[in-house]
Amino acid sequence: MDIGPVPWLGPLLLVSLWASSAPASLLRRLGEHILRFQESSALGLGLGPDSVTLPKEGWLEQPLDPFNASDRRSFLQRYWVNDQHWTSQDGPVFLHLGGEGSLGPGSVMRGHPANLAPIWGALVISLEHRFYGLSIPAEGLDTAQLRFLSSRHALADAASARLTLSRLFNVSSTSPWICFGGSYAGSLAAWARLKFPHLFFASIASSAPVRAILDFSKYNDVVSRSLMNTAIGGSLECRAAASAAFAEVERRLRASRGAWATLSVELGACGSLERAEDQAELLGALQALVGGAVQYDGQAGAPLSVRQLCRLLLGDRGNCKGNCSGSAPYRGLRRAVQVVTHSLGQRCLSIPRAETVAQLRVTELQVSSVGDRQWLYQTCTEFGYYVTCEVPGCPFSQLPALPSELELCEQVFGLSTSSVAQAVAQTNSYYGGQTPGATQVLFINGDTDPWHVLSVTQPLGSSEPALLIPSASHCLDMAPERPSDSPSLRLARQKVSQQLQTWLGLAKKSQVRGAV
Ligand SMILES: *[C@@H]1O[C@H](CO)[C@@H](O)[C@H](O)[C@H]1NC(C)=O
Ligand SMILES: *[C@@H]1O[C@H](CO)[C@@H](O)[C@H](O)[C@H]1NC(C)=O
Ligand SMILES: *[C@@H]1O[C@H](CO)[C@@H](O)[C@H](O)[C@H]1NC(C)=O
Repeated sequence: MDIGPVPWLGPLLLVSLWASSAPASLLRRLGEHILRFQESSALGLGLGPDSVTLPKEGWLEQPLDPFNASDRRSFLQRYWVNDQHWTSQDGPVFLHLGGEGSLGPGSVMRGHPANLAPIWGALVISLEHRFYGLSIPAEGLDTAQLRFLSSRHALADAASARLTLSRLFNVSSTSPWICFGGSYAGSLAAWARLKFPHLFFASIASSAPVRAILDFSKYNDVVSRSLMNTAIGGSLECRAAASAAFAEVERRLRASRGAWATLSVELGACGSLERAEDQAELLGALQALVGGAVQYDGQAGAPLSVRQLCRLLLGDRGNCKGNCSGSAPYRGLRRAVQVVTHSLGQRCLSIPRAETVAQLRVTELQVSSVGDRQWLYQTCTEFGYYVTCEVPGCPFSQLPALPSELELCEQVFGLSTSSVAQAVAQTNSYYGGQTPGATQVLFINGDTDPWHVLSVTQPLGSSEPALLIPSASHCLDMAPERPSDSPSLRLARQKVSQQLQTWLGLAKKSQVRGAV
């Protein structure tokens, strides 16, 4: 189906034309792009001629500091409501938690909450994360303000939203609330149940990296494995070609200055490659491009699947229109860069490091910003998650990426390396890492997804079940159903539905008991 652009896509597309692409930010941009694509498809379905209800937007006044009752400052938090399936005040409420980005109306029209709502007559509500999208406090993003940005604050918001929205929509006090979320928001869903079991009856956590980690070298282990996975179009040759392409980029970087100019044109590095730090930005962005093809493999709206990337790296004909210099893998990588930058509407794959730092330092409110500064802050103060490639066997350039990531925390927020390391350890002790000990949380992961190694992939007892979907990428289970979905993905979606049935059955029993 051909779906026209939806109005709220405007501002996001506009920035991405100019936005930077530091490695982490390229992955974020890909994620945004895919999410917007899928949300607009879901909305396209909901906006057909016989559609009855549009999602409604609402705002909650929330305390800026929920942990200090004498601080009276507040901010407005956005939520979306889809009540078209809600038939009875006793019905369940499916709360879709937002993560490190803005939430559109599609957030209550797609994914598990929207798909399962008709069966259960559920009210579907989504809650945008504080400091992202339009839920940014008016005072802006300076470091003093950002003290009020953390997963703990987000959980406090979810708890208070649960109470306020119950009143607002006259939800029965015995209605079970079920949390949903994907990626970081999947962790929030799991933690909401862990910390507020009296408010949230159960949670479905998709691709939730519940373990914080400073040096996330395992990310590229999975990327490497996935490039060899024949089920998704990978092969030993493909992984070898990826390595060869990176080796050639490095070789050219070590060559004369003349080579740098060609390289920047060919690989979309805006600005010169004179400084080592700018070369590292380019190599990091190239790694993120390959990582992104793996992380979002097979998803609607993804510019490049593993199969397509491998085809390019292994020298599809047509890779060398115009100047045919370089080896086949290098030309394939170059073509992959063109595909991705074109798809994201970006002119550049990478920009000079100094420009990245300058952009991350901007504290003024930018409604259209995709939240790079905020997410960097959360990685520096809670999660780390810095993707590195220093272990032998990593197929890409083995650059010391960790120091340069940590240097960003220092340059942008004045946070020392030791404070970042300490924050990561604290996060794991506060939430329990990969053994959170929450009950009634279903963890879902795909084994192609590099993030699954930080999640729960084995059941932790009967009340903490887990699904690991073969050959599935990041949050694929939440994507709209497609005819091309694999049997294992279909089966996993069925299991989610069955699990929910079991839990809602339990909730019903306790509702009846409560009424007696
Ligand atoms: C709590 O808020 C009050 C009023 O803004 C402020 O004076 C006080 O320092 C805050 N306490 C903490 C521990 O942040
Ligand atoms: C709220 O729901 C109860 C039944 O659960 C009903 O009696 C009452 O009239 C409702 N109030 C509003 C304002 O809808
Ligand atoms: C092709 O690019 C190489 C550098 O990659 C350059 O040396 C050569 O002159 C170019 N050839 C043409 C025909 O543009």
